[in-house]
Amino acid sequence: MSSTMNLNIIQGDVKQRIDRWISHYPEDQKQSAVMPALRIVQEVSGGSLTNELMDQVADYLEMTPIAVYEVATFYSMYEHKPVGKHKICLCTNISCMLRGSDEILEHLEKKLGVGVGEVTPDGKFSIKKVECLGACGGAPMMMLGKEYYENLTEESIDEILDGLE
Ligand code: FES
Repeated sequence: MSSTMNLNIIQGDVKQRIDRWISHYPEDQKQSAVMPALRIVQEVSGGSLTNELMDQVADYLEMTPIAVYEVATFYSMYEHKPVGKHKICLCTNISCMLRGSDEILEHLEKKLGVGVGEVTPDGKFSIKKVECLGACGGAPMMMLGKEYYENLTEESIDEILDGLE
């Protein structure tokens, strides 16, 4: 194994966190922990997954790599390209679209100088379009980290982003 990417990430605290999830399921069902395991591995790896990392999860949970790839590519919270320190997930589904998410997206792209799927040169922000996050009553909305920000306007976007380190 030549690259540091191939070092085993499932050890120490990461292993403990995954094991805690595995303990929630019957002994022969440890693959049920695949979603939290991927989330933990992604989080400690700077916000995105690689094939090597997904293979390690597969190995640890005794799953086939393809079964892990299927989960990791189906759900939008998993990333397969580098993301910014602050990952902006803007909902562009119907309620948010009707309440101006297109204009919010345009503002974000102009403000940050990057498009959807890109990271700002300082590594601080990335923009992602996502499907409905279940906060339609507060449309247009975005998720930043684990927080939801609703009823967005260009002004509130500026205020939120300018206040981040
Ligand atoms: S449509 Fe945007 S949160 Fe539901």
